[in-house]
Amino acid sequence: MVKKQDEFYKKGAEAELCELTIDGEEALSKKRIPKGYRDATLDESIRKKRTRGEVKLLAIAASVVNVPRIIKVDAEKSEILMEFIKGKALKEIIAKRPMLCTEAGARIRALHDIGVIHGDLTTSNILVAEENPLLKERIEKKGKLFFIDFGLGQFSKKVEDKATDLVVFKKTFNATHSSLKNGWENVMKGYNADKEMLARMDAIEKRARYH
Ligand SMILES: Nc1ncnc2c1ncn2[C@@H]1O[C@H](COP(=O)(O)OP(=O)(O)O)[C@@H](O)[C@H]1O
Ligand SMILES: [Mg+2]
Repeated sequence: MVKKQDEFYKKGAEAELCELTIDGEEALSKKRIPKGYRDATLDESIRKKRTRGEVKLLAIAASVVNVPRIIKVDAEKSEILMEFIKGKALKEIIAKRPMLCTEAGARIRALHDIGVIHGDLTTSNILVAEENPLLKERIEKKGKLFFIDFGLGQFSKKVEDKATDLVVFKKTFNATHSSLKNGWENVMKGYNADKEMLARMDAIEKRARYH
């Protein structure tokens, strides 16, 4: 494995992302950085736990949705080396391609059906891949959406956890894409929630409003 360049790419909410080239392929290192306000020992254990959790969920999620392939994990350094997905965040192109709302809903449903709760669903944590020979087969099978950032996720089959995942998404979705016509309705159309799920989402939203 030949690593080349180590270019700073982005600073996320809890991680630093660096773009690099491994054997001619673009890759990305996601390294969780220490948070000064947390106790150092606790901080390290949180970072390691989230790194391990993210890797585990990425592997499970990969059976039903597209996710970046993992190249290498260094839990001690809280670092994940993964495939770089060329494209844009769903957030940036959703206005031009509103049909992606329905597709996102359907893919989230597929994740929930196998018990993967993402934990931080936003239109920044869903990437829309560009046409690319490396991804062609996967795009044909599971579509253009690539899910990332599973560090706050968990494995659960509980309706409550799935409904919470959707309510979290709904809140940021409506705040970010307030002028998108029927955006959230189309996400839910793709998700195809049953009555129990809709009732639970309502209950969670009411609880949030009155507490
Ligand atoms: N595999 C990837 N390919 C391309 N871009 C990525 C990839 N992983 C992350 N990114 C970019 O880096 C940003 C931050 O990564 P993310 O995993 O969401 O970390 P954080 O937990 O800090 O939000 C993402 O919003 C996305 O723009
Ligand atoms: Mg993120």
